[in-house]
Amino acid sequence: MFLRKGIIAATGLFLCMFLVVHLSANAILLLPEEMAREMYNAYSTTLRESPLIKIVAYALYASIIFHIIYAAIVTFKNRKAKPNKYVVNHNQENSTWTSQNMGLIGIFILLFIVIHLANFWAKVKLGLGESVGIDVAGNVDVYEVTYSLFQNIYYVLFYTILMVPLGLHLNHGLKSAFKTLGFYHRKGLRVLTNVSLVYAAIISIGFGIIPVIVYFK
Ligand code: HEM
Repeated sequence: MFLRKGIIAATGLFLCMFLVVHLSANAILLLPEEMAREMYNAYSTTLRESPLIKIVAYALYASIIFHIIYAAIVTFKNRKAKPNKYVVNHNQENSTWTSQNMGLIGIFILLFIVIHLANFWAKVKLGLGESVGIDVAGNVDVYEVTYSLFQNIYYVLFYTILMVPLGLHLNHGLKSAFKTLGFYHRKGLRVLTNVSLVYAAIISIGFGIIPVIVYFK
């Protein structure tokens, strides 16, 4: 059991680091148009061409897959061990709504990731499908791909609303990951609770606000 939870914690922390880098890169979209286009496209080209970043990207894909598989296994095992989920749990600290519904919240995030990868990764990296911003020769203007997607109000709403489950997941997940990895000190845990909350708020509000600002740009 510890190995499974350890894998969820370690891959989760790696994914948390990715989100910081990914949000910082996407913040470029908020700059004035010409500067944003040049910097965002340069960032995207580096991502696609650097061999070192390619290795990190494979580690990222593996982390996403292992995180989902082991989280699903632990969720099913817990359900089996506690079939009556309506039993009252008096342990307030361990039974917030979020902690009891991490599986359900995870499904929303998985839905987000699948659609997000179809919107960007499949088109930009794999060259699948047609898109504004990608010409017949396969030249990619990622800024244009992103800008045109966020001219569609339904995508803006989708990208913004789905950041709510992401924020809940990160807030609980970050705290749990540190606990799993042996961080039990009482005072330290209080600091960790605040760090997790601030981290989750920055990531979810940051990602959630970018599509709205790009829409009105
Ligand atoms: C404003 C919101 C977001 C924007 C505009 C955005 C944009 C992008 C773009 C343009 C790419 C393709 C990168 C490239 O190869 O050039 C990408 C890849 C990716 N995004 Fe996002 N993203 C957003 C939010 C998120 C969130 C919230 C997550 C995770 C929960 C996420 C996870 C990923 C992953 C896993 C990849 C594949 C990375 C790779 O292959 O290097 N993104 N995103």
